[in-house]
Amino acid sequence: MSSYAHAERFPPAENDRLETVDRSACADWSAYAKAYDLMSDNNPAYQALLDDFEAFLSTIEAPKRIYDIGGGTGNYTQIAARAFPDSEIHFVEPDVGMREAAQSKLAGYDAIKYDTVTLESFDVKDTADLIICVHALYAMPGQKQRLADLRRLLRPGGMLYLVDLGRPLDVEDWRKYMFINIKNKYGLTRALQIFWHGREVAKQNKAIFSAQKKGVYWTHTEEEITSAVTEAGFEVLRQQSVYRGYSDLLVCRAKP
Ligand SMILES: C[S@@+](CC[C@H](N)C(=O)[O-])C[C@H]1O[C@@H](n2cnc3c(N)ncnc32)[C@H](O)[C@@H]1O
Repeated sequence: MSSYAHAERFPPAENDRLETVDRSACADWSAYAKAYDLMSDNNPAYQALLDDFEAFLSTIEAPKRIYDIGGGTGNYTQIAARAFPDSEIHFVEPDVGMREAAQSKLAGYDAIKYDTVTLESFDVKDTADLIICVHALYAMPGQKQRLADLRRLLRPGGMLYLVDLGRPLDVEDWRKYMFINIKNKYGLTRALQIFWHGREVAKQNKAIFSAQKKGVYWTHTEEEITSAVTEAGFEVLRQQSVYRGYSDLLVCRAKP
């Protein structure tokens, strides 16, 4: 675990004041999308999450319908589509830049449907057997309502694979971690080039930290997210601290 201020407490997210929150103090996801995969591909902590997700899929029956909420550049949808080629997958992502990056990555998969909407406006009548929601919930307005949305979108007994950033994002800590890993892998010159091309990620991480500080993005402890998920009608089957202690992973089942 790094030495960043995990214990630092920011104001509670603006769960109950959705209309008054300054959403301009948020990350620019389209700008982020341009360098997202370059940095994710070189981030061992991100790759460990993808590995966990793939291992999780090998333990469940093929879902008929999957929703990937806040799917970003499509890395989780890609793993799900490979594992379950016959499943109907809805890729739900409000940001056009992120969605376009995903669509070009997933061009070969015909069973994927793209919904360029937020979770709060994702209005479908069919429930899913599996919902994936990774590193997106914290950025949404009203986590209590959004968890209720996730529950409503799942059939009873359906699974939620949830990962959420909970602790303040220490940009300097991540910069060091990434630089050491990339330098060890490629050498100094290439590491400097990768960092130059990926500089937008550091900029957007700063925006995320700033939004967390203002209470626009949700920060939480392990206990807080577990209690929110349980209150929303889920049974937590597995929980662990992931992503170098910054995030929580919860594998949940929708209660009847
Ligand atoms: C850090 S990215 C995570 C992407 C992907 N899940 C991954 O882990 O690689 C967060 C994503 O959440 C999406 N997002 C933000 N607010 C959202 C909302 N209200 N509903 C759905 N997605 C949202 C953003 O557009 C962005 O693509």
